[in-house]
Amino acid sequence: MIVLLGYMGSGKSSIADYLKKNYNITYCDLDKYIEKQEQKSISDIFQQKGEIYFRKMENLYLNEILSQKTTDVLALGGGTPCYANNMDLLKAKSSTSIYLKVDLEELTKRLFQDKSERPLIRDLNDKAQLKDFIRKHLFEREYYYRQAKHIINVTALSLKDTAEKILKLD
Ligand code: S3P
Repeated sequence: MIVLLGYMGSGKSSIADYLKKNYNITYCDLDKYIEKQEQKSISDIFQQKGEIYFRKMENLYLNEILSQKTTDVLALGGGTPCYANNMDLLKAKSSTSIYLKVDLEELTKRLFQDKSERPLIRDLNDKAQLKDFIRKHLFEREYYYRQAKHIINVTALSLKDTAEKILKLD
């Protein structure tokens, strides 16, 4: 199983979707899986049950998906590797984890346009404030992301180029 990890806005779901459509690969998106099982959007889970509940469910469903082994590619949520024993689980159970790295400037640009469905950044209305938040958050999270088996800087790569690189990895 290929597991895609990286910060919000790094393109985990887009790449997984591209692989599915162009290479006939089965794909699971952890956030969508959680939404389906819980019958609620991620935003509603955060709002109604809180982040601690979300992190528990994230760990539970990650375990479930890794044990079922029915998908070729799994796209995680941005925080997944950084909570509970998730990164250890990934190292023990998945064959290929890949950190999709995107530079701060590009992340800020993407997330400023696309933050309404992301509870952790939704209320950061100023671009400089958002960039500051991402810089600090990414610094904390990279400790976990860097434990992935492979790191690809995808900042300037097209979906096609990223997909081709991924499929060449072992
Ligand atoms: C989160 C990222 C989100 C989602 C939740 C928390 C995070 O996924 O799991 O809002 O902690 O970074 P995406 O990375 O797909 O936006």
